[in-house]
Amino acid sequence: MKLTKAVIPAAGLGSRMLPFSSAVPKELLPVGTMPVFQYVLSEAYRAGIETIVLVNAAWKTALDDYLSPDRGRLASILGTEKERMLDSLMQLARAMEIVSVDQPEPRGLGHAVSMANPIVQDEPFAVLLPDEIILQSPGVVADLINASDDTTGAIAVIEVPREKTSSYGIVAVDNDGSEAPGITAMVEKPDPADAPTNLAIVGRYVFPQGFRSALQDLQPGAGGELQLTDAMRDNLDRFPLRAVRVSGRRFDTGNPAAYAACWQAYLDAPEAFH
Ligand code: G1P
Repeated sequence: MKLTKAVIPAAGLGSRMLPFSSAVPKELLPVGTMPVFQYVLSEAYRAGIETIVLVNAAWKTALDDYLSPDRGRLASILGTEKERMLDSLMQLARAMEIVSVDQPEPRGLGHAVSMANPIVQDEPFAVLLPDEIILQSPGVVADLINASDDTTGAIAVIEVPREKTSSYGIVAVDNDGSEAPGITAMVEKPDPADAPTNLAIVGRYVFPQGFRSALQDLQPGAGGELQLTDAMRDNLDRFPLRAVRVSGRRFDTGNPAAYAACWQAYLDAPEAFH
């Protein structure tokens, strides 16, 4: 499957990181000298993505600024040996086209992704949540693309403790023993007693061509929000999905404790982050 577009929904306030996130996008928190956001972009780049649709809130202009490094601002280091420290950013900024679209109000992940519809059109596309770092080579999105074809998409899953199901979308899969089994049911943030399994969706998705139509007419679901999980569930017959287990370590850096754990992993083995 050839896939060149990815949607990054980044308009959220990041309430778990308040007060920090009231003025600075949480996606710009650094791990080492690179923001979390850049690790996510770099995973997309390694998967062959050429266009990023950044679904953003009007106040989070710092994300756009980060992606268009300003030569005036950086003039004092250009031409010095410190310029090399910008290489990874400059490479990404040159290699990928970043298109920002506005999400006027936070109405849920399904709503956020649908804001990219005019740019995605009927092409297949990936979705990457910008606060999740997953240490896997070449990357989770690349694995999802390999597990997908023209009519079937794929999403990344991990096993979580039963008591945590209410923090995730949960899936049930065919028991056919395959590496990427077909998804048979999905439910967003179920109570542990109602969860069909403990297989949780993490923030990487690949959708086949035409999937944008599944995002129209979404009705409020868990938490009163327009949920991407509901759009997938209601359209499994038209757009089947496979579940691909994540093999690398995953950090939800929008959560202070997991962000600290991510930094610790970086200090222990920085090479795993490049
Ligand atoms: C979102 C999705 C959920 C998924 C989670 C992964 O929830 O709605 O299905 O399991 O991301 O991080 P959020 O964490 O944005 O509430």
